Amino acid sequence: MTHPSPAPRPAVPSRKAPSQKLPKGMQQTVGRGEELCQLKDNLSKGIDTLVLGPIGVGKSHLLALLDAENALMVKTLSPVKEALINIAEGLHKIGRLCPDGSDKFETFKKQHTRTTIQGWTDMVLNSVEKDEFVLIVDDLSDMTASVGRLIDKLNSKFTIIAALPEVRRSYEKHFWKFDRVEIERLSTADAKKLICQCTAGANIEDYRMTETNILQQSAGNPRAIIEIVERFRKEPAVTRSVVRDVLHTGARNQIDLTFAVVLLLLAVVAARFFMRGIGSMEGYVLAGIGSALLVGIRFFMYRFKR
Ligand SMILES: Nc1ncnc2c1ncn2[C@@H]1O[C@H](COP(=O)(O)OP(=O)(O)OP(=O)(O)O)[C@@H](O)[C@H]1O
Ligand SMILES: [Mg+2]
Repeated sequence: MTHPSPAPRPAVPSRKAPSQKLPKGMQQTVGRGEELCQLKDNLSKGIDTLVLGPIGVGKSHLLALLDAENALMVKTLSPVKEALINIAEGLHKIGRLCPDGSDKFETFKKQHTRTTIQGWTDMVLNSVEKDEFVLIVDDLSDMTASVGRLIDKLNSKFTIIAALPEVRRSYEKHFWKFDRVEIERLSTADAKKLICQCTAGANIEDYRMTETNILQQSAGNPRAIIEIVERFRKEPAVTRSVVRDVLHTGARNQIDLTFAVVLLLLAVVAARFFMRGIGSMEGYVLAGIGSALLVGIRFFMYRFKR
């Protein structure tokens, strides 16, 4: 039996939810009141800030809500030249770069096809006063050494607010003075509100069961919630069996095999000594190969985790 009007749904937006105008296609924000408050405070005070948190947790969503007149938003800072041109375009739009030159940025860009990264950097930096603008970088996850150098330069004039999952140790030096706002997964109450929003109008047989399933599988990750609901919506009706069958893989935690590999390695090393003790040359050699393989596996697991 279908259940067109599921269990009572909380009113949206949530108690703490900010009430900004949202870009098209974006879900109404649930929770995040504190984080947004802190970000707005940092923005108004000109404090450089990193927004940190796992993939899909809502970093870009929060940054999109920071709508300030003195803010320039770019998607990324990589590749460096392209990023500088994007910043220049943003400045051009507000009449900061070549205001009395060509009125079209494309023409301006053509005039500067041979301009170097350093040239673009100078143009951008010379067209703004110190702390006049906040540069919001939506995603710094593709950080490189040259992006790091660019951040140092831009930081001499811009306040920077940027999002990324985590800062690698080798890049810490570029961010030592950045404030950090950690974005955690949604609380159960907020996750329920988001599920409620996303499932509005869907034909759901057992809302409670569906909600519990989404909560478990998404682990409070908003992108996972949205993707699971999108998957459900592909079905004519969200029956109990559909809910049971649809397995969301995106948000499933990766199983950390490091501990198992290290344990296995210890066992193989111990076996090597044992084989040597009982005088089995074959066992000794095999255990040696085994430990070499495990050391290799451990090494690549470490590399690919970075
Ligand atoms: N608090 C929230 N309320 C409602 N929707 C949200 C919230 N947070 C995130 N979302 C939605 O979840 C999806 C994923 O969020 P977002 O793209 O901001 O994640 P992200 O942390 O920037 O991911 P990535 O690390 O891949 O850049 C988006 O559709 C976004 O609108
Ligand atoms: Mg993002």
